[in-house]
Amino acid sequence: MLLDGKPVNSCQVLAGSVDGADVKTVKGIDAEWIVQALADAGGVQCGFCTPGFVISIYYLLKTMPDADEESIKKALDGNLCRCTGYVKILEGVRIAMERMKKNV
Ligand code: FES
Repeated sequence: MLLDGKPVNSCQVLAGSVDGADVKTVKGIDAEWIVQALADAGGVQCGFCTPGFVISIYYLLKTMPDADEESIKKALDGNLCRCTGYVKILEGVRIAMERMKKNV
């Protein structure tokens, strides 16, 4: 989730500690284009990990729209996927970046 605009692992944040903070889940952000890019790359299989990846990618692309490969990997570090092996997820990030630049 985004906590005061920054991604955090929601499972590691006590609910009581966010009283008064700005909390957004994947449902609260405009991220359909990121989901579509991940799907187009084959980076979504069971979907269990997808919301966390989408939040991380959303924050990355808003703060570093020209992120290089190392920055992308660092931004996604800590997001675990049992299904895709990460290659397709990284491809999904690159697709999202291209579409964002072309405003598609
Ligand atoms: S798509 Fe299944 S855990 Fe990532």
